[in-house]
Amino acid sequence: MSDEAVNSEAGFLLRFSPAQRVEHFVTMVDFVGLVLTGLPQKFYTARWAQWLIGNLGGIDGVRWIHRFFGILLIVAVLWHAVGAMRAILSRKVGFSMAVNKRDFTDAVTTLRYYLGLEDHPAAFDRYDYKQKWEYWSLMIGNVIMILSGLTLMYPAVVARFGPGEIIPAAKVAHSNEGLMAFLVITIWHIFNAHLHPDVFPFDASIFTGSISRERMAHEHPLELARLEGREPGDHGHGH
Ligand code: HEM
Repeated sequence: MSDEAVNSEAGFLLRFSPAQRVEHFVTMVDFVGLVLTGLPQKFYTARWAQWLIGNLGGIDGVRWIHRFFGILLIVAVLWHAVGAMRAILSRKVGFSMAVNKRDFTDAVTTLRYYLGLEDHPAAFDRYDYKQKWEYWSLMIGNVIMILSGLTLMYPAVVARFGPGEIIPAAKVAHSNEGLMAFLVITIWHIFNAHLHPDVFPFDASIFTGSISRERMAHEHPLELARLEGREPGDHGHGH
């Protein structure tokens, strides 16, 4: 953590490092590229799909662009996994995305709070249960997309090691998981990043790296307490 990170006098704290911001940006561009070249292949009879395919250089072009972005996704996922593992093993940061019992009780507390059965909202650490859910869904989804995508890319190689049925199964998995990923990102993620009352009209922290102390106090009070050397409560992070 830099001094800037704990200098909450300034009213802003550093939430994401430049490397994390670059990673998010690359993932975002890559995902848009994959969706724009994947979905028209799934819905090839639709007019919008034919228009997109025509403008992206025809079906051969679209397939090559999709594969290029697919390889980029593999590199990005490996990069992230190695970086995260190194950071955790060096004990520079805790495993803040680890799911624990508290996430489940936090979810129940939040629901009860929304229903008026609880006076105070749940107090979160660096990542709340919704952020963890989204992170792990993305990670598991990426593994499914990569394994099924590679199967579609090298069907003959895969069929040498297992039954041929794997190939049509991979196609169904890839096609539907791709559509679901698109819907999750457009509905859930855009809601959380833009339309949620806490951040409306736009949560810029993943692009600028900084977050206001006010938002930290509201959304991540346990992390804020730790950064400021106060009692972090019973939910220390980094175990
Ligand atoms: C989130 C990421 C991804 C999304 C949303 C996505 C989406 C799609 C969709 C919707 C299709 C059309 C399936 C159909 O015809 O029903 C497709 C096809 C395909 N995808 Fe992906 N995909 C993703 C990642 C990948 C990755 C990582 C790879 C490979 C490393 C890959 C390789 C392929 C291949 C080989 C095809 C078959 C078309 C062709 O031969 O080029 N995709 N993808």
